Amino acid sequence: MPDKTTLALTDSPDGIAQAAEVLRAGGLVAFPTETVYGLGADAGDDRAVAGIYAAKGRPSFNPLIVHLADLARVQELVVWNDRAAALAQAFWPGPLTMVLPLRPGAPVSKLVTAGLDTLAVRMPANDTARALLHAFDGPVAAPSANRSGQISPTTAAHVAQGLTGRIDAVLDGGPCSVGLESTIVGLVGQPVLLRPGRVTADDLARVLGQPLAERKQAEAISAPGQLASHYAPNAGVRLNATAWHDGEARLGFGPVECDLNLSPSADLVEAAAHLFDYLHRLDALGRATIAVSPIPHLGLGVAINDRLSRAAAPRTVSGPPTL
Ligand code: TXA
Ligand code: MG
Repeated sequence: MPDKTTLALTDSPDGIAQAAEVLRAGGLVAFPTETVYGLGADAGDDRAVAGIYAAKGRPSFNPLIVHLADLARVQELVVWNDRAAALAQAFWPGPLTMVLPLRPGAPVSKLVTAGLDTLAVRMPANDTARALLHAFDGPVAAPSANRSGQISPTTAAHVAQGLTGRIDAVLDGGPCSVGLESTIVGLVGQPVLLRPGRVTADDLARVLGQPLAERKQAEAISAPGQLASHYAPNAGVRLNATAWHDGEARLGFGPVECDLNLSPSADLVEAAAHLFDYLHRLDALGRATIAVSPIPHLGLGVAINDRLSRAAAPRTVSGPPTL
């Protein structure tokens, strides 16, 4: 499969114009957002969207998030409601994805929703992402720009490592500031947290004026990206390590001796921004296991622990999952 020439584009006006041109031609462009790099395609083009699934090796039942630069465009695709308006007012542009009813006849490929009657929409804050979305002037479907099941990319180099030869271009906008995928909230019926992220359940509840519902099994299936093993390095991952074993790669948090420290001062925002990059780096050491210090389970720590527990989940085969 790796037979394409992958253009390396800078986030100059010229690079952004070229990236938009590739999208218009039905190509695949990896681009930065404040959360992680996305692998973008024209959301209205079946062939282009099918190309995302092929490049990632992603199971075809897993739906994609559509990215837009302005609210009017979002409202053309989904059935808007007051809760969505309140959350958009508070958190957009930013690291929040909302799942809403798909508007009948919305110009979005069925491959984007994987046949669901809902659509995940997000308005990123990253300047390069916004410039690209403005230049393309349409909905861009984008999962994280990694091979399915592997660690999400927070730099253009991570993207290139996994997808060179499989996609048309990588738009380099530097490292991602948040470093964890967006929070996903379901707004079809009672608001429900589908994936934790930088915008926490408490942040959402404060704006909505009500606590979020518990995620039920049925909803878990409606977000099949929530597979147990995900974000997985080649190495095994040992969580809550309070002592290191011989030969392990050591990922610390707080004032501990280790190979790489997510945040020596125990700052969760800093830790989130470093998480995927440090997993990539420690994995490159080729050790059998990456051991990770305990991360407090509060605030952004909930999202960090969610990603770490998926990285540590049993794999169905040895090595990284090939889902
Ligand atoms: O930060 C992010 O969200 C990044 C950047 C690129 O925007 N994107 C990202 O996409 O993380 P991805 O495909 O790796 O994760 C999207 C998640 C998946 O777990 C998928 O199942 C869920 O969103 N999802 C998409 N559409 C959905 C829908 N209609 N209902 C429920 N879950 C949905
Ligand atoms: Mg992903």
